[in-house]
Amino acid sequence: MKDYKRYLITAALPYANGPVHLGHLAGVYVPADIYVRYLRQRGRDVAFVCGSDEHGVPITIKAKKEGVSSQDIVDRYHKINKKAFTDLGISFDIYSRTTSPTHRETASEFFKLLYEKGEFIEKTTKQYFDTGANQFLADRYITGTCPKCHNEEAYGDQCESCGTSLNPTDLINPKSRLSGNAPELRDTKHWFLPLDKYEPWLKEWILEENKHWKPNVYGQCKSWIDAGLQPRAVSRDLDWGIPVPVEGAEGKVLYVWFDAPIGYISATKELTPDWEKYWKDDATRMIHFIGKDNIVFHCIIFPTMLKADGSYILPENVPANEFLNLEGDKISTSKNWAVWLHEYLEEFPGKQDVLRYVLCANSPEAKDNDFTWKDYQTRNNNELVAVLGNFVNRALVLTHKYFDGKVPEAGDLTDFDKDIIAQMPKIKDKVEASLENFRLREALAFAMELARLGNKYLAESEPWKLIKTDEARVKTILNISLQITANLSTVIEAFLPDTAKKLREFLNINVISWEDAAQANNVAAGHQTNKPSLLFEKVEDSQVEFQVEKLHKAKAANEAANAEAEPQKPNVSFDDFTKMDIRIGTILEAKKVAKTKKLLQLKIDTGIDTRTVVSGIAEYYEPEKIIGKQVSILVNLETRKIRGIESQGMILMAEDADGTLRFVEPSENTKEGSQVS
Ligand code: MF3
Ligand code: ZN
Repeated sequence: MKDYKRYLITAALPYANGPVHLGHLAGVYVPADIYVRYLRQRGRDVAFVCGSDEHGVPITIKAKKEGVSSQDIVDRYHKINKKAFTDLGISFDIYSRTTSPTHRETASEFFKLLYEKGEFIEKTTKQYFDTGANQFLADRYITGTCPKCHNEEAYGDQCESCGTSLNPTDLINPKSRLSGNAPELRDTKHWFLPLDKYEPWLKEWILEENKHWKPNVYGQCKSWIDAGLQPRAVSRDLDWGIPVPVEGAEGKVLYVWFDAPIGYISATKELTPDWEKYWKDDATRMIHFIGKDNIVFHCIIFPTMLKADGSYILPENVPANEFLNLEGDKISTSKNWAVWLHEYLEEFPGKQDVLRYVLCANSPEAKDNDFTWKDYQTRNNNELVAVLGNFVNRALVLTHKYFDGKVPEAGDLTDFDKDIIAQMPKIKDKVEASLENFRLREALAFAMELARLGNKYLAESEPWKLIKTDEARVKTILNISLQITANLSTVIEAFLPDTAKKLREFLNINVISWEDAAQANNVAAGHQTNKPSLLFEKVEDSQVEFQVEKLHKAKAANEAANAEAEPQKPNVSFDDFTKMDIRIGTILEAKKVAKTKKLLQLKIDTGIDTRTVVSGIAEYYEPEKIIGKQVSILVNLETRKIRGIESQGMILMAEDADGTLRFVEPSENTKEGSQVS
C-alpha cells in the first residue's frame, strides 16, 4: 500500500431525531473508535470527525408530532448523543453538527462551486403536492406501496422492507403523511447531480481501483453501477435545511444527503485551521466508517460530488458493516425495539467497556448479527470476568500477598517461561495485522489470547502451591505474569480503554508504546504496584431478565400509544339501547377473590339495592383504594356464577389498546340509582 502521512477517519453522522442505539454503535462508532485508538497508539497523525446530521424530513415530522420546532428536536438529541458517545469512550476529535454556521457556509459554497462549474442539471419535474397542507411532499413525507416488494409502508425515498432506494413517484397508491390524502402532481424545479456522466469514471475508480473494498461494499456498488446510474436530485422543497444558494430557489433547500457528508469537511474545518491537509493532500488516507444502508451515499454519490469539485481526495476504504439485530428482531426506532446507549450508560455505570467488548466481539462485520442480553451476560461472565479479570486479579493479588506489591525479580527461565514470553510478540503481531485490515472482532479475539496465555501460565505453574517450597520460582512466575499484564494494558487499549487505564493504575505505570508492548521487561523488579480492585463483575440472571422484559414492555407501550381505535360495531336500534339498564352505583366493599389473580368481589350500592358483583379488575385496582368510588353498572344483566359467587350485574370499564381497564365514572358525585342513557 501507499505510504500515507496521515489519516482522516469519518464516522457516519447520526440523525439528531432520536438517541443512538446499539445497532449504530456496533456498525459504526465502536469499530471506528477502535481503529482510531489503534492508529493513535501507532503514533499516526489522525483526525477523527463526526457530528449530528440535523436536517432531513424525519426531524421535521418528529417536531410536528411533538408540537416543537425542528431546532428543539436537534438540540435535544445532539446533546444526548454527544454525551453518550463521550461516556462510552468514543474519542472523536470533534463532534460537530450540521446546523453549525461553519457547516452552512461550507455546504453552500460547495453547492455554489458545482453550480458555477455547470455541474448540475436544472430540471422541472412533477412532484407530489399536498393541497391541504400546501406543501410539496419530499422523501419521508410520503408513503405508499413499494413497486418491488409490495410493502405497503414504503417511504418516498426508500423501502425499509427490501432496501430499495425510491423516488416518490415510484410508489403505488401514494399517500401524504401530513393529511393521509392522495397527493397531486405539480411542477417544481430542482438541481440534479449527473451520476450518469460520472459512470465511466466510477466504473474505473470503484470496480478497478477499489477491489480491496469489503465484498459487501464492492458488491453493492457494482450492482448500482451495473443497473445504470441516473441523475440524482440534490435539492428539495422544504423549509428545514440549508437554502439552495442560487437565485430563483426560494423555498428550496439542499437535500440532506447532499449536505450531510459535507459535514465531514465542516467538522474538520472546525477542528483545525490546517484542515486542508486532511482533505486535499493525496498523502491522506480517508476512511469512512458506516452502516450498510449508507453505502451508495459514501461510495458513489459523495465521491462524485468530491470529484466534480476536483480539489478533494477520495476515500481509500469504506469498511461498511452489516446490521445488528436485537433479541432476534430487527432494531427499529419506530417500533421502539432498541437498547438506547444513554439508557445503558445510566443503568450500567462504569460498564462502558463491557458494552464495547460485547459489540466488538459480536460485530456484524461480514453478516447481520444478533445482540441478546443472554450473550452479553455470557461474554461478560465467561470472558471478561473469568479470563481477563481473573488473570489480572490473580497476578496482582499474589504479588501483594507474597511480596508487598513489589514486582519480584525473575530468576532462571524454564522452557515453559521462555515459550510463554515468546508468545507475546506473536499475539501482538496478529492483533496488529487484523486491526490494519479492519477485522476488528478477530483482533479482539487475538488480544484476549494474551489474557488466556496469562491464565494458562498461572494455572499450569501454580505459584500458590510453590510458595512454601520454592519462593524463587514464584518470583519468576509473578514477574512474567506482571509483564503480561503490562503488555495487556497496551494490546487491549483500543478495545477497552477504561480497562487499560485501570491496568496501568494497578501496575502504577505509564502508557507502554505499541512497539514495546511485547517485551518481558516493561515493569522493573522492585517497582511498587497498587492494590487491584475487581475489573469486572458478574452479570446476574435477574439483570438479563429485567432487560429483556424492559424491551418487551417498551415495545408494547409504543404499540399501545400508536394503536388505532377499534372500528365501529354495526348499528343498533334505539330500542335495543334502551333495553339496557345502566345505573350509577357506589362501591361499598371490595376484596380479592381467593386463588385468582384478576378477580375482585365488590359490594355495590346501586340505589335500587345492594348487590354483589365479580369483576376482572384486580390487576388494575387495589381493593382498599376503590371503596367509595362511583361506577357505572349494568343492572339488568342475567346473573352469573363466577368462582361460586353469584355476580348480579356488570361494571362498565374502558379498555385501552394494551388491555388496561378503567372505571367509567360520572364526572361529579351523582346520586346512586341515577340512570345512564
Ligand atoms: N444520518 C445518516 C444516517 O444515520 C448518516 C449520514 S452520514 C453523512 O443514516 F455522511 F451523510 F454524514
Ligand atoms: Zn420494498
